[in-house]
Amino acid sequence: METESLAQALQREHQEIDAGIAAFAASPGDRQPLTRAIRALRRHIYLEEEFLFPLLCRAEPGLAAPTLVMLGEHARIWAILELLEDAPDARARLALGKQLAGHLLHHNLKEEKVLYPRADDILPPAAADRLQAFIARGDLPEGWVCLKARPAASDAGR
Ligand SMILES: [Fe+2]
Ligand SMILES: [Fe+2]
Repeated sequence: METESLAQALQREHQEIDAGIAAFAASPGDRQPLTRAIRALRRHIYLEEEFLFPLLCRAEPGLAAPTLVMLGEHARIWAILELLEDAPDARARLALGKQLAGHLLHHNLKEEKVLYPRADDILPPAAADRLQAFIARGDLPEGWVCLKARPAASDAGR
Protein backbone atom coordinates (compact mmCIF):
# COMPACT_ATOMS: atom_id res chain seq x y z
CA MET A 1 0.00 0.00 0.00
CA GLU A 2 2.85 2.34 0.83
CA THR A 3 4.13 1.79 -2.68
CA GLU A 4 1.56 4.33 -3.88
CA SER A 5 3.12 7.79 -3.84
CA LEU A 6 1.19 10.80 -2.58
CA ALA A 7 0.77 12.06 -6.16
CA GLN A 8 -0.60 8.68 -7.18
CA ALA A 9 -2.98 8.56 -4.23
CA LEU A 10 -4.32 12.04 -5.04
CA GLN A 11 -4.70 11.11 -8.68
CA ARG A 12 -6.53 7.94 -7.66
CA GLU A 13 -8.99 10.08 -5.71
CA HIS A 14 -9.61 12.12 -8.88
CA GLN A 15 -10.29 8.92 -10.79
CA GLU A 16 -12.61 7.50 -8.13
CA ILE A 17 -14.63 10.74 -8.04
CA ASP A 18 -14.80 10.82 -11.85
CA ALA A 19 -15.98 7.20 -11.85
CA GLY A 20 -18.75 8.03 -9.37
CA ILE A 21 -19.99 10.90 -11.53
CA ALA A 22 -19.82 8.69 -14.64
CA ALA A 23 -21.76 5.92 -12.85
CA PHE A 24 -24.45 8.42 -11.93
CA ALA A 25 -24.59 9.74 -15.52
CA ALA A 26 -25.01 6.18 -16.81
CA SER A 27 -27.81 5.44 -14.38
CA PRO A 28 -29.32 8.68 -13.04
CA GLY A 29 -32.05 6.85 -11.16
CA ASP A 30 -29.46 5.70 -8.64
CA ARG A 31 -28.24 8.71 -6.66
CA GLN A 32 -25.86 6.81 -4.44
CA PRO A 33 -22.76 7.08 -6.70
CA LEU A 34 -23.36 10.82 -7.01
CA THR A 35 -23.85 11.32 -3.29
CA ARG A 36 -20.65 9.39 -2.61
CA ALA A 37 -18.72 11.33 -5.29
CA ILE A 38 -19.87 14.68 -3.88
CA ARG A 39 -18.77 13.67 -0.39
CA ALA A 40 -15.41 12.41 -1.68
CA LEU A 41 -14.85 15.56 -3.73
CA ARG A 42 -15.56 17.85 -0.79
CA ARG A 43 -13.13 15.86 1.34
CA HIS A 44 -10.53 15.98 -1.44
CA ILE A 45 -10.84 19.76 -1.72
CA TYR A 46 -10.54 20.05 2.07
CA LEU A 47 -7.33 18.02 2.01
CA GLU A 48 -5.89 20.18 -0.74
CA GLU A 49 -6.86 23.55 0.69
CA GLU A 50 -6.11 22.95 4.36
CA PHE A 51 -3.04 20.74 4.08
CA LEU A 52 -1.56 20.03 0.66
CA PHE A 53 -1.49 23.52 -0.84
CA PRO A 54 -0.11 25.28 2.26
CA LEU A 55 2.60 22.63 2.56
CA LEU A 56 3.51 22.99 -1.11
CA CYS A 57 3.66 26.78 -0.90
CA ARG A 58 5.83 26.64 2.21
CA ALA A 59 8.26 24.26 0.51
CA GLU A 60 8.27 26.13 -2.80
CA PRO A 61 6.92 29.71 -2.72
CA GLY A 62 6.71 29.76 -6.52
CA LEU A 63 3.71 27.45 -6.25
CA ALA A 64 1.60 30.17 -4.62
CA ALA A 65 0.30 31.40 -7.98
CA PRO A 66 -0.85 28.06 -9.38
CA THR A 67 -2.45 27.05 -6.06
CA LEU A 68 -4.34 30.36 -6.02
CA VAL A 69 -5.77 29.50 -9.43
CA MET A 70 -6.81 26.11 -8.04
CA LEU A 71 -8.59 27.78 -5.09
CA GLY A 72 -10.65 29.84 -7.52
CA GLU A 73 -11.58 26.72 -9.46
CA HIS A 74 -12.50 24.91 -6.24
CA ALA A 75 -14.99 27.69 -5.48
CA ARG A 76 -16.64 27.22 -8.87
CA ILE A 77 -16.72 23.46 -8.36
CA TRP A 78 -18.11 23.93 -4.85
CA ALA A 79 -20.94 26.08 -6.22
CA ILE A 80 -21.89 23.29 -8.64
CA LEU A 81 -21.89 20.79 -5.75
CA GLU A 82 -24.33 22.96 -3.82
CA LEU A 83 -26.61 23.25 -6.85
CA LEU A 84 -26.38 19.50 -7.37
CA GLU A 85 -27.47 18.78 -3.84
CA ASP A 86 -30.45 21.10 -4.21
CA ALA A 87 -31.34 20.06 -7.76
CA PRO A 88 -35.08 19.44 -8.05
CA ASP A 89 -34.97 16.42 -10.36
CA ALA A 90 -32.80 13.92 -12.23
CA ARG A 91 -32.69 16.08 -15.35
CA ALA A 92 -31.22 19.00 -13.47
CA ARG A 93 -28.80 16.69 -11.68
CA LEU A 94 -27.67 15.20 -14.98
CA ALA A 95 -26.99 18.63 -16.50
CA LEU A 96 -25.08 19.74 -13.41
CA GLY A 97 -23.19 16.44 -13.28
CA LYS A 98 -22.04 17.07 -16.84
CA GLN A 99 -20.95 20.58 -15.92
CA LEU A 100 -19.07 19.24 -12.91
CA ALA A 101 -17.29 16.59 -14.99
CA GLY A 102 -16.19 19.29 -17.46
CA HIS A 103 -14.74 21.48 -14.72
CA LEU A 104 -12.98 18.55 -13.10
CA LEU A 105 -11.42 17.44 -16.35
CA HIS A 106 -9.48 20.68 -16.67
CA HIS A 107 -8.88 21.27 -12.99
CA ASN A 108 -7.59 17.79 -12.24
CA LEU A 109 -5.28 17.76 -15.23
CA LYS A 110 -3.58 20.94 -14.03
CA GLU A 111 -3.12 19.58 -10.52
CA GLU A 112 -1.77 16.31 -11.86
CA LYS A 113 0.69 18.01 -14.21
CA VAL A 114 1.83 20.94 -12.11
CA LEU A 115 1.22 20.40 -8.40
CA TYR A 116 1.09 16.71 -7.55
CA PRO A 117 4.50 15.82 -9.01
CA ARG A 118 6.01 18.57 -6.87
CA ALA A 119 4.33 17.06 -3.81
CA ASP A 120 6.29 13.86 -4.33
CA ASP A 121 9.50 15.83 -4.85
CA ILE A 122 9.48 18.49 -2.18
CA LEU A 123 7.25 17.58 0.77
CA PRO A 124 8.97 16.30 3.90
CA PRO A 125 8.27 12.54 4.23
CA ALA A 126 6.42 13.02 7.54
CA ALA A 127 4.04 15.52 5.94
CA ALA A 128 3.46 13.23 2.97
CA ASP A 129 2.72 10.37 5.38
CA ARG A 130 0.14 12.48 7.23
CA LEU A 131 -1.59 13.31 3.96
CA GLN A 132 -1.57 9.64 2.95
CA ALA A 133 -3.11 8.77 6.31
CA PHE A 134 -5.85 11.32 5.73
CA ILE A 135 -6.55 9.90 2.28
CA ALA A 136 -6.83 6.45 3.84
CA ARG A 137 -9.17 7.35 6.70
CA GLY A 138 -9.63 11.08 7.23
CA ASP A 139 -12.99 12.76 7.68
CA LEU A 140 -14.27 16.02 6.29
CA PRO A 141 -15.15 18.24 9.26
CA GLU A 142 -18.87 18.90 9.46
CA GLY A 143 -19.81 22.22 7.90
CA TRP A 144 -16.41 22.91 6.33
CA VAL A 145 -16.66 25.20 3.29
CA CYS A 146 -13.94 25.74 0.69
CA LEU A 147 -11.92 28.89 1.23
CA LYS A 148 -13.14 31.01 -1.66
CA ALA A 149 -16.76 29.91 -1.31
CA ARG A 150 -17.07 31.49 2.12
CA PRO A 151 -19.23 34.61 2.43
CA ALA A 152 -17.13 37.51 1.13
CA ALA A 153 -15.22 39.36 3.81
CA SER A 154 -17.74 38.34 6.46
CA ASP A 155 -14.81 37.02 8.45
CA ALA A 156 -12.95 40.36 8.45
CA GLY A 157 -12.98 41.97 11.85
CA ARG A 158 -14.73 39.08 13.60
FE1 LIG B 1 -8.31 20.55 -6.53
FE1 LIG C 1 -7.33 17.41 -6.71
